[in-house]
Parts: sequence; structure tokens; C-alpha cells
Amino acid sequence: MDYKIAILPGDGIGPEVISEAVKILKVIEKKYDHSFELLDGIIGGAAIDKYANPIPKETLSVIDKSDAILFGAVGGPKWDDPNAELRPEDGILFLRKSLNLFANLRPIKIFKSLIDSSPIKSDLLNEVDIIVVRELTGGLYFGSPKKRWVTAKGRKAVDTLIYSESEIKRILKVAFQLASSRNQKLASIDKANVLETGRLWRQIATEMSKDYPNVNLEHILVDNASMQIIQNPYKFDVIVSENTFGDILTDEASVLSGSMGMIPSASLSSLNNNSNSKKIKPSLYEPIHGTAPDIAGKGIANPIGMILSVALMLNYSFGLKVEADAIYKSINSSLSLGYRTKDIVSSGYEAISTSKMGDIISDAIE
Ligand code: IPM
Ligand code: MG
Repeated sequence: MDYKIAILPGDGIGPEVISEAVKILKVIEKKYDHSFELLDGIIGGAAIDKYANPIPKETLSVIDKSDAILFGAVGGPKWDDPNAELRPEDGILFLRKSLNLFANLRPIKIFKSLIDSSPIKSDLLNEVDIIVVRELTGGLYFGSPKKRWVTAKGRKAVDTLIYSESEIKRILKVAFQLASSRNQKLASIDKANVLETGRLWRQIATEMSKDYPNVNLEHILVDNASMQIIQNPYKFDVIVSENTFGDILTDEASVLSGSMGMIPSASLSSLNNNSNSKKIKPSLYEPIHGTAPDIAGKGIANPIGMILSVALMLNYSFGLKVEADAIYKSINSSLSLGYRTKDIVSSGYEAISTSKMGDIISDAIE
């Protein structure tokens, strides 16, 4: 099969890690006899610099032609002026919203050989295999009004946390379905003791649970969840939450894996949009980490979250499960052999560069 993939590197370490993802794609293409057509697009701060637009029409037309999108990261100190009209982040937020990518899956899987790289005690980590389903197109990120203004008494700002029943139902449906296909455990995160949106969320989750009698639904307040993710991570299977809580909890949960650089994500408009059913809007795949301006350009970033995002793309967008599994296995074996980037290095190991890690993983693909 022929697949067209938009490659959007973005800023900071985005270009460095996406180059390694491209290496992996080339190997899979050759070994498994596929044809991947890579279409380059510019986004974020880089696009503000070149086109005065974080998501220019040139990039939109690339996306229009593509079957799936690989995205690096956007943002950085250069564009961080709080009064700036254009923000790099608007590029990715626009794509999520306009492509209706409401379901963001963030698998928190622990590679056994990295257990010592995590600051969390190893006996808590052994059985950890979590998937966080983050709502991605609603809540505080997109609610209106959203603005800043000046009053006689000083400056004010507002963001709006709003969710409709249909938005809540569609994300919970994805989470219930995933939980059904895994260990039948669903933790629904909210702040129902304080927020109306949280109360609506909880009510709808309880109603929907009747349609999934096999799934054990638990409601957990977000503050308590943030504690339990560290204290008993092994007890979680699928976690579902609104947009902002999901953003925060996944950075926290990534610590379990040893590094935020290890975690990929898939942003989908439905759970079953894969394989040969052309042509729905493309899904987007990105690591959960940011642009890491402090290490950008040094060639030391961890490309594994980005490479695992390629595996998610092959699986969810193209239905290439064997190929996705081959990537997973090659990462696993490379880590078992002791290859480490700086963020996951522990005593007794030497850190290798981003591109060396990409080479090792590419060479290990069977
Ligand atoms: C993420 C990032 C983004 C988000 C930023 C870059 C807009 O933190 O993907 O988790 O907040 O969603
Ligand atoms: Mg985030």
C-alpha cells in the first residue's frame, strides 16, 4: 500500500526527534515493502518566522493530501512574549480542533530495562501499563470567552471550562471501548466536588457504565488521582479525563516510564478510523514532550517517544500491527542492550546521541 504522511517537525527538539522517526519509516518501508510518501510541512514558531502564521496555508495543503500526520513539538522562548499576537501553540491547537481529533491516547508503558531510570520505587512499577484517554478539543483550551482586558482596577483574564453532553459522551465511549478491550478497568477523572463540568462528566460516565457492564468504572477526583498515579500506578488500566487534567496527569505519569521523552500519543477522531477506509481526515501522532529549548540543537534528546508515535500511526491509521510491533520490539531490545539517551541514563551506562539511538533502533528492526 501507498501511504502519504505529513511530517511537521516544529521547533526546538522537534526536528531532531522527527528525523529519527523518518529513519524508522524508511526501514519499515523497505523491510515490509510499503511505500511511504513523506510530505514536509512547517508549523509553530518556525512558521511564524517564515510566514507570520503558525499554521500557514502551505502546511494545510500538505495535510489535505496526507493520510496521517507526524508532529514533533512547537513553542520556545523566542515566541513566548505574553503580548504576542501569534503563538506557536496555536498551530497544533488549530489542527486538533479542525481535524476533530478529540481523542488523545497516551500509553504509559514501562520498559522493564528502564525501571531503574524512574525515581519511583521499582516494586511499584513492575505491572504498570496504563493508557490515558485525554479529551483534546474542548474544555479550557477552547472554551469562550477566552481573553485578557484592562479594567479600572487592574488587568483581568478569563478562560472558560465548558463541555457539552455530546463531547463528554464521545470521549467516554472511546474510553469504555478501550477498557473493554483491555483489563476492564476505567478510572474517570473529574473535580465533581467543585466544578459543574465535573458533576456533569461524572453523571454521564455513571449513566454510560450501564452499557458496559463488564467494565469496572471508578470515579476519582483529579487531585486524588495525581497522588494515586505515583502511589499505586499498577492499579490503573484506562484513565479518562477532560483536556487540561489529561495534559497535567500525563506529564506526571510519564515519570513512571523514566522520562517524558518516552511517551507517544495518538490524536484520533474515532477509535476505528484505521486501515483501508480512505478517506477520512488524517489522525495526528506526536510525543507528549515539548520543544525542550534547554537541550535543543545539542543532539541529546530522546527520540523514543517520537518513534513510538510512528508505531501508533502504523497501528491506528494504517492497521499495520506487525510493523508497529516490530518497532516496539526493536526499542525494547535496544534498551535491554543498554543503549540510553541522557534523560534515561542510570549509573553504569553511557549516554548516546539522538541520532545514534535512532540508528540503533533502526538496525534492530526485524
Ligand atoms: C501537550 C502539550 C500541548 C498541550 C501544548 C504544546 C499546547 O503540552 O501536547 O501535552 O497543552 O496540549
Ligand atoms: Mg502537555
